[in-house]
Amino acid sequence: MARTVIGVVMNGVTGRMGYRQHLVRSILALRAEGGLPLPDGRTLWPEPILVGRGEDRLRELAERHGLSRWTTSLEEALADPEAQIYFDAQVTPAREKAVRAAIAAGKHIYTEKPSAHSLTGALELAGLARDAGVCNGVVQDKLFLPGLLKLRRLVDGGFFGRILSVRGEFGYWVFEGDWQDAQRPSWNYRGEDGGGVILDMFPHWRYVLDRIVAPVRSVYAHAATHVPRRHDENGRPYRATADDAAYGVFELEGGVVAQINSSWTVRVDRDELVEFQIDGTEGSAVAGLRECRIQHRAATPKAVWNPDLPATEDFRAQWQRVPDNQEFGNAFKAQWELFLTHVATGSPFGWDLLEGAKGVQLAELGLRSWREGRRLDVPELER
Ligand SMILES: NC(=O)c1ccc[n+]([C@@H]2O[C@H](COP(=O)([O-])OP(=O)(O)OC[C@H]3O[C@@H](n4cnc5c(N)ncnc54)[C@H](O)[C@@H]3O)[C@@H](O)[C@H]2O)c1
Repeated sequence: MARTVIGVVMNGVTGRMGYRQHLVRSILALRAEGGLPLPDGRTLWPEPILVGRGEDRLRELAERHGLSRWTTSLEEALADPEAQIYFDAQVTPAREKAVRAAIAAGKHIYTEKPSAHSLTGALELAGLARDAGVCNGVVQDKLFLPGLLKLRRLVDGGFFGRILSVRGEFGYWVFEGDWQDAQRPSWNYRGEDGGGVILDMFPHWRYVLDRIVAPVRSVYAHAATHVPRRHDENGRPYRATADDAAYGVFELEGGVVAQINSSWTVRVDRDELVEFQIDGTEGSAVAGLRECRIQHRAATPKAVWNPDLPATEDFRAQWQRVPDNQEFGNAFKAQWELFLTHVATGSPFGWDLLEGAKGVQLAELGLRSWREGRRLDVPELER
């Protein structure tokens, strides 16, 4: 079978997402499977060209995985004639400049979210990519998670009847870094470095709500910096200047109300680190990353409020598990496969830079809503 090599410049591969999810679990996993089979019979062989700031770390990482192509010069990587795709998983503020350079070099673009630090920047990137005629995409991994795929299946099958509301609960306790190491990078807690839970999570909520329930039409957000002092990777104390918890209310088309809490300062009393409950006239569902449970209208027990008696019903046992009915792969890899196929064959790909810009738009409006203490409309972005 013909093997087509496609060079992928991967910037930010020493980071959490760039390394684990994109390099190891996606690109290297595809190679371990023998490459990506294309509908036309060819096999696509992604060839990573690693880019980063630290020579030693890059060399060590490349050697660990038997890779030979790496450089600390983005310019050099973009000049590689085999490089067709530029992928960015750098810290958010570094993204725009690198993506611009890659578009100017004629590369197809695939990037982590948020696609830029501001809506203006995100729209400029979308326009530049369109004018250059390059394929482009933004990571929207949550859509490819088993739990949310099951939720989508329920929506498509008409399970809910009329959807009334969505309740989302995302978060976990991120250690302050003093007596136990923090499990997230310190830049996440500094506004001046692109941190903040709104900028991090609202881009996800935008595509989850838009794609699975209904388009977002307004936002009201209240946020806080609950833990104002943290310790960085070197144990040095710093002032947290970004929001570490956000409490959002979103109005969706058709009057659906979505409330989503996003927090790095909450202890988990849930089955999964993120859970969404959708209530509809015909039934309800609770979905996490992997699992999804439902309760149909006909199986809804009649709960009666009586604080004088202890609860006798096991409410959670009254839900039914939604079966997998299919194999689920890694969510990041699933989207990579679609993007690579899009570049190689021109197949449709619905998660482009303009879709990514919608996420940045919601984050920007969420931050403004918090500052101004009021609900804001979310205008349509022109394609
Ligand atoms: N899709 C998701 O679920 C998801 C989850 C977490 C993070 N992200 C996104 O991925 C990106 C990377 O996040 P991460 O958690 O992997 O961060 P990280 O700190 O672990 O990694 C950041 C990477 O950027 C590089 N970098 C480039 N310029 C830098 C600079 N000036 N300062 C510091 N590092 C610099 C680092 O070397 C490193 O490789 C962010 O844009 C973030 O929003 C996405």
